[in-house]
Amino acid sequence: MTDKNPQAPGAPALELSGVLKSYKNGPVVLEDFSLNIAPGCFCVVLGSSGSGKSTLLKCIAGLTEPDAGDIRLHGTSLTRKRLRSVGMVHQDFGLSDRLTAAQNVMSGMAATLSAWRVALQLYPGQIQRQACALLSRVGLSEDHANRRASQLSGGQKQRVGIARALISDPSLILADEPVASLDPKSSVEIMTLLKNAAQERGAAVLCSLHQIDLARKYADRIIGLSHGAIVFDGPPAALTREEMQAIFDMDDSSTIIHMEVA
Ligand SMILES: Nc1ncnc2c1ncn2[C@@H]1O[C@H](COP(=O)(O)OP(=O)(O)OP(=O)(O)O)[C@@H](O)[C@H]1O
Ligand SMILES: [Mg+2]
Repeated sequence: MTDKNPQAPGAPALELSGVLKSYKNGPVVLEDFSLNIAPGCFCVVLGSSGSGKSTLLKCIAGLTEPDAGDIRLHGTSLTRKRLRSVGMVHQDFGLSDRLTAAQNVMSGMAATLSAWRVALQLYPGQIQRQACALLSRVGLSEDHANRRASQLSGGQKQRVGIARALISDPSLILADEPVASLDPKSSVEIMTLLKNAAQERGAAVLCSLHQIDLARKYADRIIGLSHGAIVFDGPPAALTREEMQAIFDMDDSSTIIHMEVA
C-alpha cells in the first residue's frame, strides 16, 4: 500500500470545519458543518432527497465553492493541486459517450497532462497500462475497454466510473449515489467493488446513498443527514428505527420498515 499521507501522519483523511454553503437565490444547505473521516473508513452519508448530500460532496470535490469554512485532506487545505488525491464516482456515471471505456478511465489523469495530449487522446504508455489494469480489476474485458461508453450497460458504465476514480491513486473517494441508476443485483456488485477496491488501496470513501439496506451492509460509519445537519453519526448497528425516522423526516415508522426491506 502506498503512503497516501506524507504531509501529516495521523491526520484525518478528510476534515471539514464550519462549512457554510448556500446557493444564489436558494436555500442555506450546509451551516457550520463539521466532520472528520479517518483514513480507510467507508463512510455512508444517508439522507433523503434535498438533504444536502450532493452539495456536501461537491464542496469536498471542489465542484462548488463553500461560502465559508475549511476543508482539509490529510491536514492540508483543499487546493486545486490536492484535488488529484480525490476520486469521484457519479450517479449518472459522468462518462463521455463518444470516448471508449479506456479513454474515459485515462481522463481521470487529464488534470496532470497538457491539454493537447488530452485533446488528441495521446496518453503516456504508463497511464494506458494503468487504465487496462484498472478495467480488468473492475471486471471488464479488453473488448469492453475498446467499446464506446455509449455501448456499455449501466453496471458496466459504473465499473468504468470507478476505474476512472481510482486511476489517480486517490486517498479519498467520493461517490454520489453511485447505484441510484442500477438494478438491485448490479447495485450490490458495484458497492462490493467500490468497498474492496478502496480497501485494497487504503483509501477512505464518502458515499451518499438513500437506501438504508445498502448503507447498513457496506458502511463502517453512517452519517445521517437531514436538512443539511448531522442527525446520526455511528456504526450501522447503532442506527435505530427512531433515528431513521429522524434522517428521513418521517413520523410513520411503517414506511421505514418498508424502506429497510426494499
Ligand atoms: N445549483 C443549485 N442552485 C440552487 N439550489 C440548489 C442547487 N443545487 C441544489 N440546490 C438545493 O439545495 C438543496 C440540497 O440539494 P442537494 O442536491 O445537495 O440534495 P441531495 O441530498 O443530493 O438530494 P438528492 O437525493 O435528490 O440527490 C435542495 O433544496 C436543492 O434544491
Ligand atoms: Mg444528490
